Amino acid sequence: MTQRILLIISGGIAAYKALELVRTLRKRGIAVRAVLTESAEKFVTPLSLGVLTEDHVFGDMFDLKEEREIGHIQLSRQADLIVVAPATANILAKMANGIADNLATTLLLATDKPVLAVPAMNVRMWHHKATQRNLERLHADGVHILEPDSGEMACGEYGKGRLPEPEAIAAEIERLLALPRGADPLADQPDFAGDALSVLDKLEPNGNLTDKHILVTAGPTHEPIDPVRYIANRSSGKQGFAIAAAAARAGARVTLVAGPVQLPTPLGVDRVDVETARQMLAAVEAALPADAAIMVAAVADWRTADAAEQKIKKDGSGQPAPLALVENPDILATLSHHAHRPALLVGFAAETQKIAEHAQAKLIRKGADWIVANDVSGDVMGGDANAVQIVTTDGIETWPAMPKGQVADKLIEKVAHALSSRPG
Ligand code: CTP
Repeated sequence: MTQRILLIISGGIAAYKALELVRTLRKRGIAVRAVLTESAEKFVTPLSLGVLTEDHVFGDMFDLKEEREIGHIQLSRQADLIVVAPATANILAKMANGIADNLATTLLLATDKPVLAVPAMNVRMWHHKATQRNLERLHADGVHILEPDSGEMACGEYGKGRLPEPEAIAAEIERLLALPRGADPLADQPDFAGDALSVLDKLEPNGNLTDKHILVTAGPTHEPIDPVRYIANRSSGKQGFAIAAAAARAGARVTLVAGPVQLPTPLGVDRVDVETARQMLAAVEAALPADAAIMVAAVADWRTADAAEQKIKKDGSGQPAPLALVENPDILATLSHHAHRPALLVGFAAETQKIAEHAQAKLIRKGADWIVANDVSGDVMGGDANAVQIVTTDGIETWPAMPKGQVADKLIEKVAHALSSRPG
């Protein structure tokens, strides 16, 4: 069945990127119906949007003919997910306060569907206490938020506030569309329910990690050969980022030590960016103590003995430059012997064959409590789904293939359960 999103475009300079987003979503087989706020019409024309969505574009709530043919309540009923992209500081403020003064904000208030907001604004507006307060409130109301990227802004300033690339937004939309309906905190809310408590009750689909510190590593490491070359691997960081996001949703304080990846920081997560295995180890040790550490990073096993200070040149002999490698520290094994060993230590094992057997050996060798073994013989690295087995000293649990976001939710639920049943 075709999945449908209702895309609300609010008026910021990033609104033009909404066209590329529509194109990306349509390529992925997702139907898009668009609503433009009045100020968004200054950046995107209803005509170009209409051509790309192959649908009527909605604008003014008081277009009575439209209202007769398809009422504003109806508009959101026909969607599986409502996406506000770009979401200006203004529309976020209205959403957080339940203001409904145009078609977009009215249907946001009237909807019973999950909502994803993708903010984009000037860096100072983003960091303003009012915006951050509104975001926290929306997060507590169950609105999904994809944080903006950092970089140069249209206004010439530099910082956080850029709309993420359409591909990244589309990936988040696909992840949310794949969530089972029950997993969404607003999914089974009755229409127009204004009872905040009933929403908050449903906010902890992953168990309770309040007051817990969860440390997550994610992504690859890059080991320099010379100033322009490095040793790397295909890890995308998606699974680790999804786990950090799930832990934050469950109420934990989360430190995410990330190798070089192009992924937005999940809401409520403290991120430390590193490049090499040795930097990752240092960042992990600096983040201790933690209640649980989940080591998802694909750490490079080797680095060059000495990275050259200058670019290595061909010497004309036809022989490749010799590359002496030395082993990197094993971060997981180091943690298992650490004075501040987390109460729960979870490793990941990327395997292409004899998955469970190798994972069991790794569990013992590295001193971990659990190993999440995944079969990377397909396109797991960089892909959006994962099939894992959880290997513990008690045995092996096999989970069916599911989106990485769902693996994250299930794993965090298991972590919360384990921490609550352990003393201290
Ligand atoms: N790991 C780590 N430090 C390293 C290598 C791996 O902390 N230097 C962690 C990974 O984050 C993961 C687990 O160890 O949680 C297993 O990673 P994997 O690459 O599968 O294991 P390796 O030790 O590299 O084993 P092998 O390459 O022999 O399969």
